[in-house]
Amino acid sequence: MKISDCILFILLFLLMTFPGSSSGQSKELPSDRESIDKGETLFLNNCNVCHAIPVERIGPALSTVTKKRSLTWLLGFIKNSQSMITAGDTHAVFIFRSYNNTVMPSFKKLSDDDIFDILAYIQDASKTGSPKDLHPEVLLSGKYGDAILHGKFLFDQQCAVCHAFDKEVIGPALGSTPKTLPLSWLIPFVHNSQEVIKKGDIYANFISEQYDHYKMPAFTYLSENDIRDIFLYLNAKATGPVHISGSNAALNPDLSPMSKLKVDPGPPRMSFEEGRHYRRYISLNLIQGLFLLGALIHIAFIIALAFIFFRLINK
Ligand code: HEC
Ligand code: HEC
Repeated sequence: MKISDCILFILLFLLMTFPGSSSGQSKELPSDRESIDKGETLFLNNCNVCHAIPVERIGPALSTVTKKRSLTWLLGFIKNSQSMITAGDTHAVFIFRSYNNTVMPSFKKLSDDDIFDILAYIQDASKTGSPKDLHPEVLLSGKYGDAILHGKFLFDQQCAVCHAFDKEVIGPALGSTPKTLPLSWLIPFVHNSQEVIKKGDIYANFISEQYDHYKMPAFTYLSENDIRDIFLYLNAKATGPVHISGSNAALNPDLSPMSKLKVDPGPPRMSFEEGRHYRRYISLNLIQGLFLLGALIHIAFIIALAFIFFRLINK
């Protein structure tokens, strides 16, 4: 046998046996009924006091959150949100501040699979939205009433073909978006999302990829204040009638984080460069690390075999 044949043979053997190079991609969520039902029960028992899928409660509406964050981020946040906040994860810190530093309890007792089931349920429920009729006429009163009404008009006209506040349409649900992303990001994104994507903004690229690079149209004819009004309206609507009689500040745009975020000069731009959790393709977890180690040992073993083989045929 010629040496080149031997090398070819070894290469082929390596290719065939190399442990499936899984490129670090996150696990897919389960989509079978059983997992979704199990997820619903877990959600009702652990999360329901603070969260609903279509509307806000104490915590954000969770509609389409499975598309807005990577699974790695969601697992980390649900298991121990405070550790991510302390570690300075930009997104976790921003949301925590938006919800007046309300501490979400940690759920270390839930296994990864439990959390995947909960997320499968959230993903499934994001398709249907809110069965409740919210009462916009109540929500539209107050100091920001006119701005909210203006926002509603613009939203219905420009955005409602693709977005709802409580469920996924063509694009993601926007209910809690005003509290989970800063206005300083939202305004340029709505103005011209493709430009923000081209500039390399990590989150914009992440969400665009989640929606198969669907190109949301640019709204360059909307002013900064127009766009702010749309989010004031969505914020008021997502807060829902749950808060009407209570003292919950979220209903009152005066007290909600929205009003603190002035359009001009604007809050400091959130640096998504730190959003390492979105770089899910790079992250090598322990199992993949072990695979890699296995593969290296494998290669070393084959090289040793080849070496012995050559020594033998050269004799
Ligand atoms: C005691 C109230 C409380 C409970 C219980 C709770 N959460 Fe939360 N959750 C919050 C608050 C408040 C926030 C906003 C961030 C913060 O304040 O840390 C939040 C944020 C989140 C986020 C981030 C949303 C985003 O847009 O990124 C996810 C995901 C989440 N919760 C999932 C869950 C799940 C799943 C459960 C149940 C296993 C749960 N939460 C139980 C209060 C709660
Ligand atoms: C033709 C469909 C379409 C229209 C119209 C549209 N969008 Fe979108 N939007 C999308 C899609 C799809 C995405 C997902 C990201 C992507 O593909 O760029 C998205 C993403 C977003 C996001 C990011 C949400 C998040 O939480 O990550 C915001 C904010 C947004 N749109 C706001 C708006 C507003 C405000 C309007 C109206 C002025 C609007 N969009 C009109 C399709 C649309």
